[in-house]
Amino acid sequence: MTEAFSAMMVEDVDGKPRAGFREITKKDLPDHDVLVEVSYSSLNYKDGLAVSGKGRIARRLPMVAGIDISGTVVESRSSAWAPGDRVVVNGWGLSETEWGGYTRFQRLKPEWLIRLPDAFTLKEAMAIGTAGYTAALCVNALEDWGVIQPGKGEVLVTGAAGGVGSTAVSLLSSKGYVVVASTGRAETHDYLRGLGATSFLDRAELAGEVRPLQKERWSGAVDSVGSTTLANVLAQTVYGGAVAACGLAGGNDLPGSVFPHILRSVTLIGVDSVHAPTAKRERAWRTLADHLDRQKLAAMTEVHPMKDLPELAKSIVAGAVRGRVVIEIA
Ligand SMILES: NC(=O)c1ccc[n+]([C@@H]2O[C@H](COP(=O)([O-])OP(=O)(O)OC[C@H]3O[C@@H](n4cnc5c(N)ncnc54)[C@H](OP(=O)(O)O)[C@@H]3O)[C@@H](O)[C@H]2O)c1
Repeated sequence: MTEAFSAMMVEDVDGKPRAGFREITKKDLPDHDVLVEVSYSSLNYKDGLAVSGKGRIARRLPMVAGIDISGTVVESRSSAWAPGDRVVVNGWGLSETEWGGYTRFQRLKPEWLIRLPDAFTLKEAMAIGTAGYTAALCVNALEDWGVIQPGKGEVLVTGAAGGVGSTAVSLLSSKGYVVVASTGRAETHDYLRGLGATSFLDRAELAGEVRPLQKERWSGAVDSVGSTTLANVLAQTVYGGAVAACGLAGGNDLPGSVFPHILRSVTLIGVDSVHAPTAKRERAWRTLADHLDRQKLAAMTEVHPMKDLPELAKSIVAGAVRGRVVIEIA
C-alpha cells in the first residue's frame, strides 16, 4: 500500500496561488535521485509570502512550499549519498521552481544536498535554516572584505529581531565584534542583548529621509531590510567599509546616491543564498558550526507543528515573528 502524507501545497485557484494541506504519496514526488525523509523545515520570510499568498513565490503550480529541509536519506540513485546520511537543503529554487520541504518525504537532486555538520542536530539545522545560513554568508562576505575587526568599530545589524538579524547578531558577537542592533521592537532589546547586541538603534531612525553622506559610524553592516534603511546605512558607513545586503523586508527600492561609494569607497555586497555555489554553502555551515553559540540558537528558536503554518505565515509577513521558527514535519 502507498502511504499518504500531508504536504503544504500551493495551487491555482481562480488564477491565484492558494496554499493548503493536501494528502500526497511518494508516487506524486518529482523524479529526482535522492529520496529524503524530512524531519524539520523552517519558516522564512519567503515562506510567509508563499503560504499567506502575499507574494507570488511559486513559478509553477502545483508546488510544495518550504525553502528548507533537514532530514535523512532513505533511497539514493547517486553514489554521493547513501541511506542514513543526515542532510540539509537550503534554497536551490525549492518552493519556487522545485517542490520544497513542507512534506514528510521529498525527492531531491544530489547536488542540492549538504552533509549536516556533526555539531548540529536535525532540529538545530532548521533553527538556522535559510535565514541563519544567509546570515553566515553575510558575515563571511564582510570578513572577506577585510574592514570589520573584532573589538574595533561598530557593526550594525538591521531587522535584528528577525531570523537573519538574530543569527547575524549572535554570530558576529560570538566572533568578538561590537554589534549594534536596529529593531522596530523595543520589547526585543533584552532578547537581543542576550544574543550579544551591545546597543540599539530604533529602526525609525533609518527609515526617514536619506541624506547622501552622514556621520560615519558603521565599519560594516548586515542588512535584511533594504529601501531607505539600506540607503541610510550606506550613508553612515565609514570610509572603506562594507554593507552586506540580503533582504527587502522594508522594500525592494534603494533610494540613495553614489556618494558613499565614490567619496568614501563604501562597498555594497549583494548576498544571495538560493543559488550560492556549494563551496560557499559548506563554508557558511562550517562558520555556523564553529561559531554559533548553541544556547543562543535555542533562545532564538520556537518549534511548531506543520498545522500552524497558515497562522505563522501571516505573522512573519506582518514582521511579528521573533528569531527563528522550526517546523516539525514528522
Ligand atoms: N538574499 C537571500 O538569499 C535571502 C535569504 C534569506 C532571507 N532573505 C530576505 O531577508 C529578509 C529577512 O528575512 P527573515 O527570514 O529574517 O525575515 P523576518 O524573520 O521576518 O525578519 C525581518 C525583520 O525585518 C524587520 N522589518 C520587517 N518589516 C519591516 C519594515 N517595514 N521596515 C523595516 N524593518 C522591517 C523586522 O525586524 P525588527 O522587528 O527587529 O525591526 C523583522 O523581524 C527578507 O526580505 C528575506 O526575503 C534573503
